Amino acid sequence: MESSKPAQIVKDVVEAAVEKVGDALTPDVPGAPGSAPPPLQEPTTPHGPLPPKAEQGAPDTRTPTGAETGVPKIAKGQQGAYLTTANGARLRDTDHSLKAGPRGPVLLQDHHLREKITHFDHERIPERVVHARGAGAHGTFVAYGAAEEVTRAGFLKKGRETPVFVRFSTVLGSRGSADTVRDTRGFATKFYTDEGTFDLVANNIPVFFIQDAIKFPDVIHAGKPHPDREIPQAQSAHDTFWDFVSLHTEAQHHTIWNMSDRGIPRSYRTMEGFGVHTFRMVDEAGATVLVKFHWKPKLGVHSLTWEEAQLIGGIDPDYHRRDLYDAIEAGAYPEWELGIQVFPDTPEETFAGIDLLDPTKIVPEELAPVQPIGKLTLNKTPRNFFAETEQVAFHVGHLPPGIDVTNDPLLQGRLFSYVDTQLTRLGGPNFTQIPINRPHADVNDMLRDGFHQHAVHAGVAPYRPNSLDGGNPFPAGDREHAFVDTPVTVAEAPKVRAAPASFDDHYSQVRLFWQSMSPVEKEHIIRAYTFELGKCYHQAIKERQLQCLANVDPVLCEQVATGLGLPVPQPTVPLAEVQPSPALSQVGREWPADGRMVGIVVDAQADLGDVHEVRREVFAAGMVPLLIAAHGGTVDGLPVQRTFATGRSVEFDAVLLAGAPAPAPDALPARDAKAGSAGSAGSATVDPRMLLLVEEAWRHAKVIGAWGAGAEVLNQAGVTGTPGVVTGGSGAEVLAEVQRLMAAHRVWERFPASVA
Ligand code: HEM
Repeated sequence: MESSKPAQIVKDVVEAAVEKVGDALTPDVPGAPGSAPPPLQEPTTPHGPLPPKAEQGAPDTRTPTGAETGVPKIAKGQQGAYLTTANGARLRDTDHSLKAGPRGPVLLQDHHLREKITHFDHERIPERVVHARGAGAHGTFVAYGAAEEVTRAGFLKKGRETPVFVRFSTVLGSRGSADTVRDTRGFATKFYTDEGTFDLVANNIPVFFIQDAIKFPDVIHAGKPHPDREIPQAQSAHDTFWDFVSLHTEAQHHTIWNMSDRGIPRSYRTMEGFGVHTFRMVDEAGATVLVKFHWKPKLGVHSLTWEEAQLIGGIDPDYHRRDLYDAIEAGAYPEWELGIQVFPDTPEETFAGIDLLDPTKIVPEELAPVQPIGKLTLNKTPRNFFAETEQVAFHVGHLPPGIDVTNDPLLQGRLFSYVDTQLTRLGGPNFTQIPINRPHADVNDMLRDGFHQHAVHAGVAPYRPNSLDGGNPFPAGDREHAFVDTPVTVAEAPKVRAAPASFDDHYSQVRLFWQSMSPVEKEHIIRAYTFELGKCYHQAIKERQLQCLANVDPVLCEQVATGLGLPVPQPTVPLAEVQPSPALSQVGREWPADGRMVGIVVDAQADLGDVHEVRREVFAAGMVPLLIAAHGGTVDGLPVQRTFATGRSVEFDAVLLAGAPAPAPDALPARDAKAGSAGSAGSATVDPRMLLLVEEAWRHAKVIGAWGAGAEVLNQAGVTGTPGVVTGGSGAEVLAEVQRLMAAHRVWERFPASVA
């Protein structure tokens, strides 16, 4: 427990507030701001800062050089009951500038005014040049021990528990852009190991656009908004992006992943993560293997539909971070298994003919299974977004003994880039001393001074060798677990700006990906290409990209060309014979439904006993029930969490209809009915926005359940009896079937696919 006195004060505040507001409205779903409900009147009795919310974590309290301080984490923020200056002097007024009389000019001597405004003026730092939009969470990683055979990294020894901080992100958008855009997602994990910090700076797509880091500015400049008008924001559907990827064909593999459902994840919790590059693991004896890292989400890989993603972009641009934080608050902790594919470390650095140094290639799991080596659980949200999520600094060169890099030319460039950009972004060379970046291992470097130096170094000899500081610090030998650069033999070769010939195959794995998709996934890919190229201005760019698609698959090319109204080109390279990799498809498996959102439509006429029961059952299944009604407040003592005005189908993974609310006064029957399902909706007896809810949930292949008057609504919406639409005599009966269907996430059988 981190607090005592503040906790008592909070308890009093909470008790007072609950007395006033009443139990019924106490939020029992995640998302309440602050750790206590606010009283109606402005509080005037001085007391300390409220404690953080129960689900919030904070960086460990360590010194800049990694030592534990024993200071409770709560002491990191504000303290005391009274308002102070930055230097701790108490203030009696912060609402009025110091003036020469109430109507007079402001005095230059007002040091409090100047401190307050000056600090505010400097609150912003540069956003990341890429991955600017992100959300972080704290957690733990527990090793299974399965990697002990191939690495000496201590944190991978059986049962070892390591604190972590993870930051998920989009790549292209600015810090304020929407979460649900079509893009690659970052999945960066900081493992605070006792042998030094390990950063696994991964993406949700296992390959990258380029094979050599020198192209990184090019691909990012092409993906970012056009430099003249600065549009479009956080999008790849524009000329410069497609100009680049159609000319630079090694980008085609990453691009087809972006055009697939992987580009629009349902949640961070339902994303895979990939280290992309091949890394090298080193055991105690110095023996090495090559590995690729994979994160496997416990909940499976799920995506939004394109229409959902667009609606959510407007309705709830913070959808992914809200989902992450709500899940943690609700106790549905997101989990992933870390796995490795292991390959022999041969001089060729290939496996099954695949060049392991080419970051545009995967090794199908069917050829090299992913072996689980540990589990990641995210169980705390950040206490302060800026201090933690904005200031965290990842770097692919943060490696513990036992994990090393390879000569992948993309990885080699990244080794330079991260620290370089952080020097500017975080204002100097001492950002490893920011609390979220502080190692949990002893730090005894010889780096000194610089902006924002937090360490008060002792000694006079920050150099080696020295005798004045008794020789300290001493280099560690193998026995003391030093990081040793693996002595890889580099073949004699001329100095060249060139790539190996094996990097020239730009199409076979694109075709492998396409061939591994289920029919519905193929349909989505066709639509995504058609949409994105349809948004391009220049026909030459569309035609050039169609030529690339012709080299991937004739059906894909023909369908996209038809949508664009352009001729279908012939392939210019032989189509590769590929063995599909079923592991690449998201469809066809079943997963737990933890943390999914279930919308329940109720009205006062519904069987409310049944609703109470269903709500309990949904909670018990680890999901979050959200009651939807025509008005706010309560229905039969149950809190209404969404009204037809504040809720929208896209928030829910499944919709249950327990009632049939009549049109509410704020409904505009004619307009809303038109916006909702057509046909009989015009004469609907229910609120037309409920029909819109049902129609959208149906279009998005979601499970819909109904009983009692709710079942009538299905008739009005014209969806009764279609796949994934469940009716029954009671809420419990319907819920059981709904839950069974939700395991597959969506009911694709509702829409038989037209592509084989
Ligand atoms: C496999 C390829 C790559 C992956 C998986 C990847 C992944 C990531 C991730 C996840 C982040 C966000 C880190 C965070 O949340 O703070 C990031 C940021 C960044 N990446 Fe990469 N990246 C890749 C390639 C590159 C390359 C080739 C370069 C440059 C040569 C590069 C430069 C950067 C920079 C400058 C940032 C911003 C870092 C900061 O401001 O802290 N990345 N990358």
